[in-house]
Amino acid sequence: MSQRSCLSIILAAGEGTRMKSAVPKVLHTIAGLPMAAHVVKAAEAAGSGELALVIGHGADEMRKAALKFAPKAEAFVQEKRLGTAHAVLAARAAISKGYDDILVMFGDTPLIDPEALAAARLKLAEGAAVVVVGFRTENPSGYGRLIEKAGKLVAIREEKDCSDEEKKITFCNGGLMAVAGRHALKLLDQVGSKNAKGEYYLTDIVEIAAAQGLDVVATEASFENALGINNRAELAQAEGIWQQRRRREAMLSGVTLIAPETVFFSHDTEIGADTIVEPNVWFGPDVKIATGVKIHAFSHIEGATIASNCDVGPFARLRPGADLRTKAKVGNFCEVKQAIVEEGAKVNHLTYIGDARIGAGANIGAGTITCNYDGYSKFFTDIGEGAFIGSNSSLVAPVSIGKGGYIASGSVITESVPDDALAFGRARQRTLPGKGKELRERFSQAAAARKKG
Ligand code: UD1
Ligand code: CA
Repeated sequence: MSQRSCLSIILAAGEGTRMKSAVPKVLHTIAGLPMAAHVVKAAEAAGSGELALVIGHGADEMRKAALKFAPKAEAFVQEKRLGTAHAVLAARAAISKGYDDILVMFGDTPLIDPEALAAARLKLAEGAAVVVVGFRTENPSGYGRLIEKAGKLVAIREEKDCSDEEKKITFCNGGLMAVAGRHALKLLDQVGSKNAKGEYYLTDIVEIAAAQGLDVVATEASFENALGINNRAELAQAEGIWQQRRRREAMLSGVTLIAPETVFFSHDTEIGADTIVEPNVWFGPDVKIATGVKIHAFSHIEGATIASNCDVGPFARLRPGADLRTKAKVGNFCEVKQAIVEEGAKVNHLTYIGDARIGAGANIGAGTITCNYDGYSKFFTDIGEGAFIGSNSSLVAPVSIGKGGYIASGSVITESVPDDALAFGRARQRTLPGKGKELRERFSQAAAARKKG
């Protein structure tokens, strides 16, 4: 199959007003990735080499976004929204280059299964001119119905053009279509707009091809392939299905999810076997987790790299640039940003580590803060191997603590500390015997006097 050339045309010129958003519909995200990018990924996974993106509303924003998720895609603008066939023809220049296979997908249908696309391409390879990916549903309302005669697909009828009899059909058009490149333009150019909506329907090429004796085939795929997103409730529904799939995939690859329905992955989360994820954990983009890691409950993790056998949380926040090396530990109510926590180092309680390196085996006491920002610039804190930072210390960057350095708790450290030194950065304690009692008596007498007066 891979030797057959393939162009994927992704239609994304929809208005999407029901999202009630300033953002074009297909740029709303599932698992942190724009829905159109999910469609692009599916096309690529099905071996489609070339991509054409048909855009309309919000064209500039779409172009900019597409540079990120589909840098090789050619964008075509459909000036007026005259129907799905008209939209496909906006990419006429791309189609004219000549491909064996043309796939047409909708940008607002993010759960497309690459296998459904591959199966459709296989039918083209076997000689079909048009392949429609259908699905069965008890509630076909709103979908185009697949009209079959003697077991052969002969037409797709849009809901609004259906007779009462046809409305009962439960085999529907999911919106994915594969067309033999050599027939595509000829078929599309014959599509007219005599229908209830006055639109140029892509679906009409089925009837046109069938009437010409070309081979037209319907394949069947699951409902998710057809799940089009029109509002934020459907967006959440798609997110839910995506997360469910990803959790299952993670578990089958050796990750323990104690309460899978409470763990949320990003589209690009990498997570190794024998990692255990406790309930209520959120993974933002760009997270890589090796094997045997424990992520305790209520942790929020993004842009972080976590090496094997680390221990994170509960209630840990790892932000972009957090780099935990083997067996490092970041405990409850700790935030780590842009910092390397080297092998076996421990940051256990109530701590902020930002723009820093923490040497192997160092121990960071409760309430330690790296003061990395003066309101204008960020500064670096370097903590040497095996250092001990006493609780409630502020390390005012730029500053470095040498190997084996020891910081007395409650210190404000503004000057670098050499290897193996002990540093105090706090006022010396004074203890005045009997003074506490004396003070209490004085205050209580003053309060009584005020009440009387
Ligand atoms: C379409 C199909 C229907 C199918 C359903 C599946 C047609 C005529 N009908 O109906 O058979 O069951 O999808 O969800 O194809 N678009 C453009 N430009 C246009 C018109 C549409 O880019 O001029 C894009 C939209 O952004 C959208 C997609 O094409 O992503 C589908 O258009 P829409 O109007 O939603 O078609 P449906 O009526 O849902
Ligand atoms: Ca639709």
